[in-house]
Amino acid sequence: MEEAKAFAPGRVEVLGNHTDYNGGVVLSAALELGVEASARRLPGGRVELQSEGMGGVEGFERGGGFVRSGKWTDYPLGVAEMLAAAGAEAGGFSISFRSTLPSGAGLSSSAALEVATAVALLRLYPLPMGRMDVARLCRRAENEFVGVNCGLLDQASSVFGRRGHLVFLDCRSEGVEAIPFPEGLGLLVVDSGVKHALVGGEYNERREQCFEAARRMGVAALRDASGAQLEAAAVPELAKRRARHVVGENERVFRAVEALRRGDPRVLGGLMVESHRSSMGNFENSTAELDALVDFAVSQKGCLGARLTGGGFGGSIVALVEEGSAQRVLEDVVSGYRERTGNRAKGFFCRPWDGALPDEIR
Ligand code: GLA
Repeated sequence: MEEAKAFAPGRVEVLGNHTDYNGGVVLSAALELGVEASARRLPGGRVELQSEGMGGVEGFERGGGFVRSGKWTDYPLGVAEMLAAAGAEAGGFSISFRSTLPSGAGLSSSAALEVATAVALLRLYPLPMGRMDVARLCRRAENEFVGVNCGLLDQASSVFGRRGHLVFLDCRSEGVEAIPFPEGLGLLVVDSGVKHALVGGEYNERREQCFEAARRMGVAALRDASGAQLEAAAVPELAKRRARHVVGENERVFRAVEALRRGDPRVLGGLMVESHRSSMGNFENSTAELDALVDFAVSQKGCLGARLTGGGFGGSIVALVEEGSAQRVLEDVVSGYRERTGNRAKGFFCRPWDGALPDEIR
Protein backbone atom coordinates (compact mmCIF):
# COMPACT_ATOMS: atom_id res chain seq x y z
CA MET A 1 0.00 0.00 0.00
CA GLU A 2 1.20 3.53 -0.81
CA GLU A 3 -0.92 5.15 1.87
CA ALA A 4 -2.45 3.88 5.10
CA LYS A 5 -4.34 5.03 8.14
CA ALA A 6 -4.44 3.58 11.62
CA PHE A 7 -6.05 4.38 14.93
CA ALA A 8 -4.86 3.15 18.33
CA PRO A 9 -6.67 3.97 21.56
CA GLY A 10 -5.40 4.91 25.01
CA ARG A 11 -6.33 2.63 27.87
CA VAL A 12 -7.57 2.75 31.39
CA GLU A 13 -6.35 0.18 33.89
CA VAL A 14 -9.44 -0.99 35.75
CA LEU A 15 -7.79 -3.38 38.23
CA GLY A 16 -4.37 -5.05 38.56
CA ASN A 17 -1.87 -2.37 39.49
CA HIS A 18 1.83 -2.98 38.80
CA THR A 19 1.11 -6.63 38.14
CA ASP A 20 2.17 -6.69 34.48
CA TYR A 21 5.95 -6.71 34.94
CA ASN A 22 5.49 -9.22 37.78
CA GLY A 23 4.02 -11.84 35.46
CA GLY A 24 0.55 -11.12 36.81
CA VAL A 25 -2.98 -10.45 35.63
CA VAL A 26 -4.77 -7.22 34.82
CA LEU A 27 -8.15 -5.91 33.70
CA SER A 28 -8.25 -2.88 31.44
CA ALA A 29 -10.36 -1.11 28.86
CA ALA A 30 -9.45 0.58 25.60
CA LEU A 31 -10.78 4.12 25.27
CA GLU A 32 -12.54 5.87 22.42
CA LEU A 33 -9.77 8.48 22.60
CA GLY A 34 -6.43 7.74 21.01
CA VAL A 35 -3.91 8.47 18.29
CA GLU A 36 -4.67 8.59 14.59
CA ALA A 37 -1.86 8.04 12.10
CA SER A 38 -1.94 8.96 8.39
CA ALA A 39 1.03 7.40 6.67
CA ARG A 40 2.49 7.18 3.19
CA ARG A 41 5.58 5.67 1.65
CA LEU A 42 8.55 7.89 0.87
CA PRO A 43 11.36 6.97 -1.51
CA GLY A 44 14.67 5.69 -0.15
CA GLY A 45 15.18 5.76 3.60
CA ARG A 46 13.60 9.17 4.20
CA VAL A 47 11.39 9.40 7.31
CA GLU A 48 9.20 12.39 8.16
CA LEU A 49 7.14 12.66 11.33
CA GLN A 50 4.66 15.28 12.32
CA SER A 51 2.22 15.59 15.17
CA GLU A 52 -0.51 18.17 15.56
CA GLY A 53 0.49 20.61 18.26
CA MET A 54 4.11 19.42 18.41
CA GLY A 55 5.67 21.82 15.89
CA GLY A 56 6.69 21.18 12.28
CA VAL A 57 7.90 18.13 10.39
CA GLU A 58 10.85 16.25 11.90
CA GLY A 59 13.03 14.58 9.28
CA PHE A 60 15.29 11.52 9.62
CA GLU A 61 17.28 9.16 7.42
CA ARG A 62 17.21 5.43 8.04
CA GLY A 63 20.95 5.06 7.36
CA GLY A 64 22.54 2.86 10.02
CA GLY A 65 19.55 3.09 12.35
CA PHE A 66 17.83 5.85 14.32
CA VAL A 67 19.32 7.56 17.34
CA ARG A 68 17.31 8.30 20.46
CA SER A 69 16.74 12.03 21.00
CA GLY A 70 14.57 12.19 24.11
CA LYS A 71 11.73 13.73 22.06
CA TRP A 72 8.26 12.38 21.19
CA THR A 73 9.64 11.09 17.88
CA ASP A 74 11.51 8.35 19.80
CA TYR A 75 8.25 6.38 20.07
CA PRO A 76 7.52 6.04 16.33
CA LEU A 77 11.22 5.70 15.47
CA GLY A 78 11.62 2.96 18.07
CA VAL A 79 8.71 1.07 16.52
CA ALA A 80 10.14 1.48 13.00
CA GLU A 81 13.48 0.19 14.26
CA MET A 82 11.90 -2.89 15.89
CA LEU A 83 9.85 -3.63 12.77
CA ALA A 84 12.99 -3.51 10.63
CA ALA A 85 14.75 -5.82 13.12
CA ALA A 86 11.77 -8.21 12.84
CA GLY A 87 12.25 -8.36 9.06
CA ALA A 88 9.96 -5.66 7.67
CA GLU A 89 11.21 -3.77 4.64
CA ALA A 90 13.05 -0.71 6.01
CA GLY A 91 11.55 1.70 3.49
CA GLY A 92 10.95 5.42 3.84
CA PHE A 93 7.70 6.81 5.21
CA SER A 94 5.95 9.89 6.40
CA ILE A 95 3.41 9.80 9.24
CA SER A 96 1.25 12.57 10.49
CA PHE A 97 -0.30 11.99 13.93
CA ARG A 98 -3.31 13.47 15.63
CA SER A 99 -4.11 12.69 19.25
CA THR A 100 -7.37 13.08 21.10
CA LEU A 101 -5.82 11.78 24.34
CA PRO A 102 -4.75 14.10 27.10
CA SER A 103 -1.03 13.50 27.61
CA GLY A 104 0.36 13.13 31.13
CA ALA A 105 -2.99 11.86 32.42
CA GLY A 106 -1.77 8.26 32.69
CA LEU A 107 -3.94 7.03 29.82
CA SER A 108 -1.05 5.61 27.78
CA SER A 109 -0.73 8.17 25.04
CA SER A 110 2.73 6.76 24.37
CA ALA A 111 1.47 3.20 23.85
CA ALA A 112 -1.24 4.59 21.55
CA LEU A 113 1.45 6.40 19.55
CA GLU A 114 3.51 3.21 19.29
CA VAL A 115 0.61 0.98 18.31
CA ALA A 116 -0.74 3.49 15.76
CA THR A 117 2.74 3.63 14.21
CA ALA A 118 3.11 -0.14 14.13
CA VAL A 119 -0.28 -0.73 12.51
CA ALA A 120 0.23 2.05 9.93
CA LEU A 121 3.72 0.79 9.02
CA LEU A 122 2.52 -2.81 8.81
CA ARG A 123 -0.05 -1.62 6.29
CA LEU A 124 2.63 0.17 4.23
CA TYR A 125 5.26 -2.58 4.56
CA PRO A 126 3.43 -5.81 5.42
CA LEU A 127 4.98 -8.48 7.60
CA PRO A 128 2.96 -11.44 8.89
CA MET A 129 2.39 -10.79 12.59
CA GLY A 130 -0.15 -11.80 15.20
CA ARG A 131 -1.84 -9.26 17.42
CA MET A 132 0.27 -10.16 20.45
CA ASP A 133 3.40 -9.83 18.30
CA VAL A 134 2.39 -6.23 17.59
CA ALA A 135 1.84 -5.49 21.30
CA ARG A 136 5.14 -7.15 22.24
CA LEU A 137 7.05 -5.29 19.53
CA CYS A 138 5.67 -1.93 20.72
CA ARG A 139 6.61 -2.75 24.30
CA ARG A 140 10.12 -3.60 23.14
CA ALA A 141 10.36 -0.26 21.35
CA GLU A 142 9.46 1.47 24.61
CA ASN A 143 11.80 -0.65 26.76
CA GLU A 144 14.79 -0.78 24.47
CA PHE A 145 14.60 2.33 22.30
CA VAL A 146 12.76 4.91 24.40
CA GLY A 147 14.25 3.50 27.60
CA VAL A 148 11.11 3.11 29.74
CA ASN A 149 10.76 -0.19 31.63
CA CYS A 150 6.98 -0.59 31.28
CA GLY A 151 5.19 -3.96 31.22
CA LEU A 152 2.82 -5.22 28.50
CA LEU A 153 -0.43 -3.73 29.80
CA ASP A 154 -0.59 -0.49 27.83
CA GLN A 155 0.33 -1.86 24.42
CA ALA A 156 -1.80 -5.02 24.78
CA SER A 157 -4.85 -2.98 25.85
CA SER A 158 -4.42 -0.64 22.90
CA VAL A 159 -4.22 -3.60 20.50
CA PHE A 160 -6.82 -5.97 21.97
CA GLY A 161 -9.52 -3.65 23.34
CA ARG A 162 -13.07 -4.61 22.43
CA ARG A 163 -16.22 -2.52 22.55
CA GLY A 164 -18.35 -3.39 25.57
CA HIS A 165 -15.64 -5.65 27.01
CA LEU A 166 -12.75 -5.50 29.43
CA VAL A 167 -9.39 -6.85 28.38
CA PHE A 168 -8.29 -9.59 30.80
CA LEU A 169 -4.56 -9.97 30.21
CA ASP A 170 -2.40 -12.67 31.70
CA CYS A 171 1.15 -11.37 31.40
CA ARG A 172 2.69 -14.78 32.15
CA SER A 173 0.97 -16.75 29.39
CA GLU A 174 0.36 -13.61 27.31
CA GLY A 175 -3.21 -14.81 26.92
CA VAL A 176 -6.02 -12.30 26.44
CA GLU A 177 -9.72 -12.76 27.06
CA ALA A 178 -12.55 -10.31 26.46
CA ILE A 179 -14.81 -10.11 29.54
CA PRO A 180 -18.27 -8.58 28.92
CA PHE A 181 -18.61 -5.26 30.71
CA PRO A 182 -21.90 -4.88 32.61
CA GLU A 183 -24.75 -3.03 30.86
CA GLY A 184 -25.88 0.19 32.50
CA LEU A 185 -22.45 0.89 33.96
CA GLY A 186 -19.47 2.82 32.68
CA LEU A 187 -16.11 4.20 33.67
CA LEU A 188 -15.45 7.70 34.81
CA VAL A 189 -11.86 8.76 34.24
CA VAL A 190 -10.82 11.85 36.19
CA ASP A 191 -7.42 13.47 35.71
CA SER A 192 -6.02 15.05 38.87
CA GLY A 193 -4.14 17.57 36.74
CA VAL A 194 -0.95 16.65 38.57
CA LYS A 195 1.70 15.62 36.08
CA HIS A 196 2.54 11.98 35.69
CA ALA A 197 6.08 11.20 34.55
CA LEU A 198 6.71 7.52 33.96
CA VAL A 199 10.32 8.09 33.04
CA GLY A 200 10.86 9.13 36.68
CA GLY A 201 12.73 6.94 39.12
CA GLU A 202 9.75 5.93 41.29
CA TYR A 203 8.43 3.39 38.80
CA ASN A 204 11.80 1.69 38.41
CA GLU A 205 12.36 1.73 42.16
CA ARG A 206 9.04 -0.05 42.77
CA ARG A 207 9.91 -2.54 40.07
CA GLU A 208 13.23 -3.35 41.73
CA GLN A 209 11.55 -3.75 45.14
CA CYS A 210 9.09 -6.25 43.62
CA PHE A 211 11.94 -8.19 42.00
CA GLU A 212 13.82 -8.18 45.29
CA ALA A 213 10.80 -9.64 47.13
CA ALA A 214 10.49 -12.37 44.48
CA ARG A 215 14.22 -13.16 44.72
CA ARG A 216 14.09 -13.41 48.52
CA MET A 217 11.14 -15.79 48.25
CA GLY A 218 12.92 -17.91 45.67
CA VAL A 219 10.15 -17.52 43.06
CA ALA A 220 10.57 -16.44 39.44
CA ALA A 221 8.06 -13.60 39.78
CA LEU A 222 5.51 -12.33 42.33
CA ARG A 223 2.84 -14.03 40.24
CA ASP A 224 4.06 -17.28 41.82
CA ALA A 225 3.55 -16.12 45.41
CA SER A 226 0.41 -16.36 47.54
CA GLY A 227 -0.41 -13.86 50.28
CA ALA A 228 0.22 -16.45 53.01
CA GLN A 229 3.59 -17.41 51.50
CA LEU A 230 4.65 -13.79 51.38
CA GLU A 231 3.70 -13.09 54.99
CA ALA A 232 5.68 -16.13 56.17
CA ALA A 233 8.78 -15.32 54.08
CA ALA A 234 11.90 -13.49 55.22
CA VAL A 235 11.53 -10.41 53.03
CA PRO A 236 12.63 -6.94 54.19
CA GLU A 237 9.67 -4.86 55.39
CA LEU A 238 9.56 -2.34 52.54
CA ALA A 239 9.85 -4.92 49.76
CA LYS A 240 7.23 -7.01 51.57
CA ARG A 241 4.73 -4.15 51.54
CA ARG A 242 5.33 -3.56 47.83
CA ALA A 243 4.87 -7.27 47.14
CA ARG A 244 1.71 -7.35 49.30
CA HIS A 245 0.15 -4.87 46.88
CA VAL A 246 1.04 -6.86 43.78
CA VAL A 247 0.05 -10.26 45.22
CA GLY A 248 -3.22 -8.72 46.45
CA GLU A 249 -3.90 -7.17 43.05
CA ASN A 250 -3.52 -10.51 41.29
CA GLU A 251 -6.02 -12.08 43.71
CA ARG A 252 -8.40 -9.16 43.26
CA VAL A 253 -8.29 -9.45 39.47
CA PHE A 254 -9.19 -13.15 39.60
CA ARG A 255 -12.05 -12.41 42.03
CA ALA A 256 -13.30 -9.56 39.83
CA VAL A 257 -13.31 -11.71 36.69
CA GLU A 258 -15.28 -14.41 38.51
CA ALA A 259 -17.78 -11.85 39.80
CA LEU A 260 -18.23 -10.26 36.36
CA ARG A 261 -18.85 -13.69 34.86
CA ARG A 262 -21.58 -14.27 37.48
CA GLY A 263 -23.04 -10.84 36.64
CA ASP A 264 -22.11 -9.21 39.96
CA PRO A 265 -20.34 -5.90 39.17
CA ARG A 266 -20.67 -4.57 42.76
CA VAL A 267 -17.82 -6.91 43.68
CA LEU A 268 -15.58 -5.21 41.11
CA GLY A 269 -16.39 -1.82 42.66
CA GLY A 270 -15.43 -3.04 46.14
CA LEU A 271 -12.19 -4.53 44.84
CA MET A 272 -11.29 -1.23 43.18
CA VAL A 273 -11.61 0.49 46.55
CA GLU A 274 -9.43 -2.19 48.19
CA SER A 275 -6.90 -1.73 45.41
CA HIS A 276 -6.67 1.99 46.07
CA ARG A 277 -6.21 1.46 49.81
CA SER A 278 -3.40 -0.94 49.05
CA SER A 279 -1.80 1.64 46.73
CA MET A 280 -1.95 4.14 49.58
CA GLY A 281 -0.61 1.91 52.33
CA ASN A 282 1.50 -0.74 50.63
CA PHE A 283 2.74 0.47 47.28
CA GLU A 284 2.74 4.18 48.14
CA ASN A 285 2.10 5.20 44.56
CA SER A 286 -0.87 7.43 45.33
CA THR A 287 -0.89 11.18 45.94
CA ALA A 288 -3.04 13.44 48.13
CA GLU A 289 -4.81 14.57 44.94
CA LEU A 290 -5.64 11.03 43.79
CA ASP A 291 -6.83 10.15 47.32
CA ALA A 292 -9.12 13.19 47.32
CA LEU A 293 -10.61 12.25 43.93
CA VAL A 294 -11.24 8.66 45.07
CA ASP A 295 -12.82 9.89 48.34
CA PHE A 296 -15.19 12.22 46.54
CA ALA A 297 -16.08 9.59 43.95
CA VAL A 298 -16.88 6.75 46.34
CA SER A 299 -19.04 8.97 48.53
CA GLN A 300 -21.40 9.65 45.60
CA LYS A 301 -24.57 7.69 45.02
CA GLY A 302 -24.25 5.70 41.79
CA CYS A 303 -20.51 5.11 42.20
CA LEU A 304 -19.59 1.46 42.85
CA GLY A 305 -15.87 2.00 43.46
CA ALA A 306 -12.83 4.00 42.43
CA ARG A 307 -9.05 3.79 42.43
CA LEU A 308 -5.96 5.34 40.93
CA THR A 309 -5.23 4.02 37.46
CA GLY A 310 -1.89 3.26 35.80
CA GLY A 311 1.55 3.88 37.27
CA GLY A 312 0.38 6.29 39.96
CA PHE A 313 2.35 9.22 41.43
CA GLY A 314 -0.22 11.53 39.80
CA GLY A 315 -2.37 11.07 36.72
CA SER A 316 -5.95 9.87 36.86
CA ILE A 317 -8.45 7.85 38.83
CA VAL A 318 -11.03 5.48 37.38
CA ALA A 319 -14.47 5.05 38.92
CA LEU A 320 -17.11 2.43 38.16
CA VAL A 321 -20.41 4.30 37.89
CA GLU A 322 -24.03 3.84 36.90
CA GLU A 323 -24.51 5.39 33.48
CA GLY A 324 -27.43 7.54 34.62
CA SER A 325 -25.44 9.06 37.50
CA ALA A 326 -22.15 9.61 35.66
CA GLN A 327 -22.59 13.30 34.84
CA ARG A 328 -23.65 14.22 38.37
CA VAL A 329 -20.87 12.16 39.97
CA LEU A 330 -18.32 13.84 37.70
CA GLU A 331 -19.56 17.35 38.51
CA ASP A 332 -19.57 16.69 42.25
CA VAL A 333 -16.11 15.12 42.20
CA VAL A 334 -14.65 18.03 40.20
CA SER A 335 -16.17 20.69 42.46
CA GLY A 336 -15.31 18.90 45.74
CA TYR A 337 -11.76 18.42 44.52
CA ARG A 338 -11.47 22.09 43.55
CA GLU A 339 -12.59 23.16 47.02
CA ARG A 340 -10.25 20.81 48.84
CA THR A 341 -7.09 21.12 46.74
CA GLY A 342 -7.51 24.24 44.60
CA ASN A 343 -6.75 22.10 41.52
CA ARG A 344 -8.82 21.73 38.42
CA ALA A 345 -9.69 18.11 37.58
CA LYS A 346 -10.96 17.09 34.16
CA GLY A 347 -12.87 13.94 33.48
CA PHE A 348 -14.95 12.00 31.02
CA PHE A 349 -17.34 9.09 31.02
CA CYS A 350 -16.75 6.11 28.76
CA ARG A 351 -17.57 2.50 28.03
CA PRO A 352 -14.84 0.11 26.89
CA TRP A 353 -14.01 0.64 23.23
CA ASP A 354 -12.31 -1.18 20.35
CA GLY A 355 -8.55 -1.58 20.22
CA ALA A 356 -6.39 -0.95 17.15
CA LEU A 357 -6.83 -4.51 15.90
CA PRO A 358 -10.00 -5.85 17.51
CA ASP A 359 -10.12 -8.88 15.23
CA GLU A 360 -8.19 -8.06 12.09
CA ILE A 361 -4.91 -9.86 12.78
CA ARG A 362 -5.02 -13.12 14.67
C1 GLA B 1 2.24 2.05 33.72
C2 GLA B 1 3.04 1.07 32.88
C3 GLA B 1 2.32 -0.27 32.78
C4 GLA B 1 1.94 -0.79 34.17
C5 GLA B 1 1.23 0.29 34.96
C6 GLA B 1 0.95 -0.09 36.39
O1 GLA B 1 1.05 2.37 33.07
O2 GLA B 1 3.26 1.58 31.59
O3 GLA B 1 3.13 -1.22 32.10
O4 GLA B 1 3.06 -1.26 34.85
O5 GLA B 1 1.98 1.51 34.98
O6 GLA B 1 0.07 -1.15 36.47
